[in-house]
Amino acid sequence: MGAKPEEVVITHSLTTNLHLLMVSFYRPEGKRTKIICEAKAFPSDAYALESQIKFHGLKTETDLIEIEPREGEHLINEEDVLNKIAEVGEELAMIMIGGVNYYTGQLFDMKKITEAGHAVGATVGFDLAHAAGNINLKLNDWGVDFAAWCGYKYLNSSPGGVSGMFVHERHANSPRLPRFAGWWGYDKETRFQMEPGFKPMYGAEGWQLSNAPILGMAAHLASLDLFDEAGMDRIGEKRDSMTAFLEFVIEDISEKNKDRCTLEIITPKDLKKRGAQLSIVAHGQGRALFDELTRQGVIADWREPNVIRIAPAPLYNSYEDCYRFGQCLQNAIQ
Ligand SMILES: Cc1ncc(COP(=O)(O)O)c(C=O)c1O
Repeated sequence: MGAKPEEVVITHSLTTNLHLLMVSFYRPEGKRTKIICEAKAFPSDAYALESQIKFHGLKTETDLIEIEPREGEHLINEEDVLNKIAEVGEELAMIMIGGVNYYTGQLFDMKKITEAGHAVGATVGFDLAHAAGNINLKLNDWGVDFAAWCGYKYLNSSPGGVSGMFVHERHANSPRLPRFAGWWGYDKETRFQMEPGFKPMYGAEGWQLSNAPILGMAAHLASLDLFDEAGMDRIGEKRDSMTAFLEFVIEDISEKNKDRCTLEIITPKDLKKRGAQLSIVAHGQGRALFDELTRQGVIADWREPNVIRIAPAPLYNSYEDCYRFGQCLQNAIQ
């Protein structure tokens, strides 16, 4: 995460954590009420943002600003995000964006977005579900206010597994920051004295509500140990070369089959703008192509209306897997 130990805690699930963080970091006041997010955010994030706005008695029609890709494009132009932040200016309360968009695999420049948000006085947070364990993050250096992620994508800790929260050290000792409290966020030294009056722990741990599920934590720790052993730098190197190889394989198959089906990779080509995920639109084919890939043993993902997401995870996928994917894709098209 590129964070100090006291900036991170592992607990609850992702949507729960996003809500807990927004209780503290979305504090609309006066005319500063608006939230900027990306269009086509993961539905749970969209529901969370919507409900936070309504919780404060505000309206999504006026207070939720979604940045759309330009006409005819799949990706969001980062200039549009930065320009919108400047335009909304002192009416902007918070920015909350998926660091890597779940649908297109687009990686946003979190440093630039954070700086732009802070320049107009807004708080800035990211959903890192598709970035954690995938991207080399530097949350502390980038100055991000808060972030949350799940442990069950690149971090391999099983669906419903524990989630992570990041709170920047500048908010570590903020007992007056409003938050929803529970006993596990109470100062560890005196927690079991069970005194009335909530006294938060220093740092991200102060946002915990309940004690953590041991089985989920054990699975997560086993996975993180492997990440530690391999190191994010080496994982990142293999991610880039393996994803580039997979891209080559897909483009090759697209070229060979252009009369029947063209495969358009909508994920950015620039390695600095993506992680391991490639999102493919198979023009001239539909869900049947995805179902055939599944039948051949490929674990990919289908997103309506027509996107196949595939992610070679560097820790355990091989170049040969990418090559075999190409063979399966060729068979499926035929
Ligand atoms: C970007 C994003 N946000 C939120 C969620 C929801 O996670 P949870 O079910 O742990 O709340 C997911 C799950 O896939 C996700 O991909």
